[in-house]
Amino acid sequence: MRPLPPAYTPFPWAPSTEELARRAGLTPQQILRFDGNVPPSPGPSARPDTVADALARVHTYPHGGYPAIYEAIAAYAGVEPANVVLGAGADDLLLLCARAFAGPGDVVAVAHEPTYPILRLAAWLTGAEVDARVEEPVLTFVCRPNNPSGALVDVPDARPLVVDEAYFEYAGETAVGLLDEGVIVVRTFSKAFALAGARVGYALAAADVAAALRERQAPLPVSTLSVALAVAALANPPDVRPLLAERKRVADVLRGLGLEPLPSHANFVFVPLADPGAVADGLVLRGLVVRPFADGIRITIRGREDDDRLLAALAKLVGSAP
Ligand SMILES: Cc1ncc(COP(=O)(O)O)c(C=O)c1O
Repeated sequence: MRPLPPAYTPFPWAPSTEELARRAGLTPQQILRFDGNVPPSPGPSARPDTVADALARVHTYPHGGYPAIYEAIAAYAGVEPANVVLGAGADDLLLLCARAFAGPGDVVAVAHEPTYPILRLAAWLTGAEVDARVEEPVLTFVCRPNNPSGALVDVPDARPLVVDEAYFEYAGETAVGLLDEGVIVVRTFSKAFALAGARVGYALAAADVAAALRERQAPLPVSTLSVALAVAALANPPDVRPLLAERKRVADVLRGLGLEPLPSHANFVFVPLADPGAVADGLVLRGLVVRPFADGIRITIRGREDDDRLLAALAKLVGSAP
């Protein structure tokens, strides 16, 4: 096998709910996860009858591909089906973009670090180096809104540019207007559409770029069951306004605790802390799982009841309850 760069570390997967429950001496049902940036429950169309037709034909290939989902995504995103590339989650498309543009000896730039780790990993997996200071990278990645900060960072001028818009629905801001200027937008059904387990994402690009990306994919990268779930979800896109109101409420309570959550344009808030590891460990013991970073914790917004449990526990751990 080709060696990976010395700095390469595999994607840092969070432990399973069962494992976390074991560590906390709780049952898996008692664990609330605030660490995955996904909604707390499936959407209304994620039901057995949504996949019944696909299941009745699961023995065969989707001959002719998936025209229905290409049309539905194009209508949702305000582009043409020729601008769409379907993939097994945004991650699949980020890796596809990396290998389409970069290879050994090339330099890829990742803007606004710290950011989503897959952007670096995607570049490294092609054999390229990652350096944001180089003058002419073969490809630049930016995550907007950024994970883990939630910031709506600037769109870099560099081209070609991949904009990871996994949290687009919460921000309402997009780089889709720049597709004809060397920009590729990558989005997902894992976040606002609540279909992370189905693994469906898409890229939007100029028609010639989209065609070149499709040529470099596996022929049928997404299962027919997942496509059925995504098409059904697109027929009734999520209303993120309650989540945005709850995010504001959570941020206000956090400020009341003397904390300084960063302004967020996504479904999570980043809270800078002096000892994030200790706080995250203390929360896990109470069945509340957040994502720790070197300088803070990232909290997925779930809903009032769950969020209040987390806020009450945080108040005890940071010790300045109002
Ligand atoms: C910025 C960003 N991009 C992509 C993904 C992965 O999306 P998917 O589940 O579609 O692979 C995530 C998931 O957390 C993310 O935060």
